[in-house]
Amino acid sequence: MINVNNFVSQEELLLQEKYKSQIRRQIDGKGLCAFVYTLGCQQNEADSERIRGVLRELGYRITEIEEEADFLLVNTCAIREHAEKRALSIIGRFKHYKAKNPDIVIGVCGCMTAQQHRSEQIKHSYHYVDFAFGTSLMHRLPEFIYNALNKGKRRFMLDSERPQIAEGLEIERESNYKAWVSIMYGCNNFCTYCIVPYVRGRERSRNMKDILDEVRDLASRGYHDITLLGQNVNSYGKDLEGKPTIADLLNEISKIDGDFMIHLMTSHPKDASSEMIEALSTNSHRTNHFHLPLQSGSDEILKKMNRHYDIDRYLSIVDELRAKNKDITLTTDIIVGFPGESEADFEKTVEIIKKVRFDSIFSFIFSPRKGTPAYEMENQIPEEIKHTRYDRLCQIQNEIANEINQTYVGKEIRVLVDGKSKNNENVYTSRTEGNKIVHFECENDYTGNFINVKITRADTFALYGEKI
Ligand code: SAH
Ligand code: SF4
Ligand code: F3S
Repeated sequence: MINVNNFVSQEELLLQEKYKSQIRRQIDGKGLCAFVYTLGCQQNEADSERIRGVLRELGYRITEIEEEADFLLVNTCAIREHAEKRALSIIGRFKHYKAKNPDIVIGVCGCMTAQQHRSEQIKHSYHYVDFAFGTSLMHRLPEFIYNALNKGKRRFMLDSERPQIAEGLEIERESNYKAWVSIMYGCNNFCTYCIVPYVRGRERSRNMKDILDEVRDLASRGYHDITLLGQNVNSYGKDLEGKPTIADLLNEISKIDGDFMIHLMTSHPKDASSEMIEALSTNSHRTNHFHLPLQSGSDEILKKMNRHYDIDRYLSIVDELRAKNKDITLTTDIIVGFPGESEADFEKTVEIIKKVRFDSIFSFIFSPRKGTPAYEMENQIPEEIKHTRYDRLCQIQNEIANEINQTYVGKEIRVLVDGKSKNNENVYTSRTEGNKIVHFECENDYTGNFINVKITRADTFALYGEKI
């Protein structure tokens, strides 16, 4: 089941080990600390956990306070313009740290820096940045840091031509009860609006054995919530020998002991197979939540988006999911204002939102991404129209979410406790198995544990209850 071409070579990993030991010697006893700022999706969160693992191995203490850091790294996102602007403003504010202390090392990585124009922009306009590298070069972080610590030339590297997976990197997980497990990297789908395939390369699947070992380890350490990550987890395994499927992987995970739930993030409707839905619904670790990105309710727009499904197919997957699990909560992603989206197209999106009645939707205003086909398309929608449509969609969805949430009042449900609410001393925040937020009052701290709560009231965004 191993496809050796998917993996970074042993020689390369050994070379990085050499850099690691040199850095360890060089910074030993200096008490240096490192700060990592993460933007973007769960893939980036997961990458940052690996980066922190490597930094810890190098001898850095990880800090949440950027002012005290000796090494600063921004892990960037490129999905929408707003994400890039935020990254650039954070990089901008790092300037004065370097001015105060020239020994500080500053790096930028992630999806934004995998684009040539952004890499060049950082090189030329942010002179204090020591290095920037694309998403597939993460395993070379020790080399980049070593070079910067020893005042080598500034390095700006895009991605390797054939991005590969680096197994065995240390992971410093943020949580001790919730974990991300990447099962594949990259994307082959080239939805016409999306930058991801250009910045994360083609699909590469991890070996099933490596994934199962990681899940087994997490389960044995008491993790309760495990999310299998990939841009399209439904096409897992297509590049591996023997072509194991996501259903095979889920069935193997089902055999692992432990009190944990399995989530998938994200599933592309075009590859949502009945086997996958069956393997989820019969799984001993099944959850009651499924995220199925719709993007638009208009077949014509879906075609222009290169999504490879139509509304009938989408609705049949929804029916299948609900038939297998009547309690399932459904969430989706919607893009408003794709080029050429007419009022009638938008109304079709509204119609399907009303028909499916999602528990929540993540709606985004279309943001043209340089290098993608939609950037070049005619009939770009004016900003005001995009905003009016976006507001209307949110208002309709808020009503639906509120109505759905009211049906929970009076019910008793199991939740996984996430910790104290920010605003109120004795109030805790938690998630149901359907991924709904529940705030509840309690004298004791059950963070990281499952408990049962009775729902007493609800609104659009959350449920409220008390511990039973
Ligand atoms: N691989 C995932 C999506 C990753 S990006 C999937 O296919 O579902 C997360 C969401 O960002 C997408 O589902 C889409 O709704 C939104 N998105 C992607 N590119 C965008 C763009 N150019 N403008 C606005 N939203 C975008
Ligand atoms: Fe982007 Fe489409 Fe790939 Fe998702 S499936 S990452 S939306 S190209
Ligand atoms: Fe952003 Fe890259 Fe994720 S572009 S959404 S961080 S895959």
